[in-house]
Order: sequence, then C-alpha cells, then structure tokens
Amino acid sequence: MVILVSGRGSNLQALINAIRDGKLPAEILAVISNEPGAPAVARARTAGIPVHVIDHRDYPSREEFDHALMQQIDAYQPRLVTLAGFMRILSDAFIGHYHERLMNIHPSLLPAFPGLNTHARALAGGAKFHGASVHFVTHEVDGGPVIIQASVPVLPDDTPEILAERVLAEEHRIYPLAIEWFLNNRLSVDQGRVLLDGQRRPEQGLIEEDISLNKPETR
Ligand code: GRF
Repeated sequence: MVILVSGRGSNLQALINAIRDGKLPAEILAVISNEPGAPAVARARTAGIPVHVIDHRDYPSREEFDHALMQQIDAYQPRLVTLAGFMRILSDAFIGHYHERLMNIHPSLLPAFPGLNTHARALAGGAKFHGASVHFVTHEVDGGPVIIQASVPVLPDDTPEILAERVLAEEHRIYPLAIEWFLNNRLSVDQGRVLLDGQRRPEQGLIEEDISLNKPETR
C-alpha cells in the first residue's frame, strides 16, 4: 500500500509497528505527505520507507495537485491507498481513480460527526459513546461505506483531548485490522455496505444501536 499523511503520523506508526510485529502482512511501498514538516515524514524516514513530499501549495489547483499525487502513487502500483491523517479534500477524479481501494480513518462513529473537531462536537452534543470508523472513501466527505468501527464511552470529566486519546488507541487497533481484511481479499461492497467474507458484520449492527443512544447533534 501507499500511505498519505499530513501530520503527526500516529496511525502511520501503528501500521509500521503492526507490520514489524508480524500482525499485518503488508508492505508500505511509500509514504506521501503534502506537509514537508509533518512528524509523519520523519517517522517514515526512520522506518526506512520511501517518502515523497508533494506540497499542495506548489500547485495552482486541487485537480493539478491531485494529478501529481496520482502519478506518484501509481508509480508504485499499490493495491491499496491508505489515508492516515491526510488533511486535504480529494477531487472526484482522484476518488474515482481509486474506487474501493482508497481507505480512510475518521475519529467518530460515522455517520455521526463527519468533518473536523469531532471530539469537541461529541462532548458538546452530549454523546454517551464516541469512537472511530475505517471506511472506503467516496465522493461524500467521510460518507463512504464503513468497514469497521470501535466505540468508547464518553466519561463525565472528559475534555476533547482526553477523549481523543481514548479514541486514538482504538484507531491504532482497528486500522491494521481493516487493512489486513482488504489485503486478504475478505472485503466487498454490496449496495453501499461492506461485507466481510460475504457477510454483513454483526458488530456493525451493535454499533448502530450505540449511535442511536447518542443525542442528536445540534447543527
Ligand atoms: C486521526 O485522528 C485520524 O482519525 C484522523 O486524523 C488523525 C490523524 O492522526 N483522520 P495521526 O496523524 O495518525 O496521528
């Protein structure tokens, strides 16, 4: 796979560690960052992974930046493109090009709280549960078919930072798992729903019940 990053890179590190520990049979062919100074870039270099910086500020339009990104990714012929804290909205051409082989991790129980500042919004909305979702990327931002989710309780003294840390531990657990399923050809998408070994995962049903316990978000 090729991994796209913009920032801290803790999910990238979790994937590097899972591969190193023999828990994820995969190869990171390259890491691409749009931010030259991202800590994720240093993590990739330390792990000996080829790194490319493609700075979006060097391109006059989103389409041209995405085109450069696609060219660099395709030079590696990856089976999967993994977004790990990649903070750019991707164009329709990019998303179409990697249809059902472009994965993202999002820090909320989608469809609750798409977009930014999910932890603060979950607290402000009085959510009882919060969590993380791995999903295939479609044209709708944070709206693609969900592969796996993990929920955590929201506790009375939580701040956005404390809650984020609890969620992040789950992100680091579920992202390698989703990628392993993909690379072992265990995932398919049927009518907008992800199937594992041809079956809908019962866990998803449970998590959907958890979501219904959340108070509706005030928009
Ligand atoms: C994570 O919370 C991820 O869910 C979101 O961006 C954050 C990236 O963190 N998409 P990191 O760079 O992996 O540490």
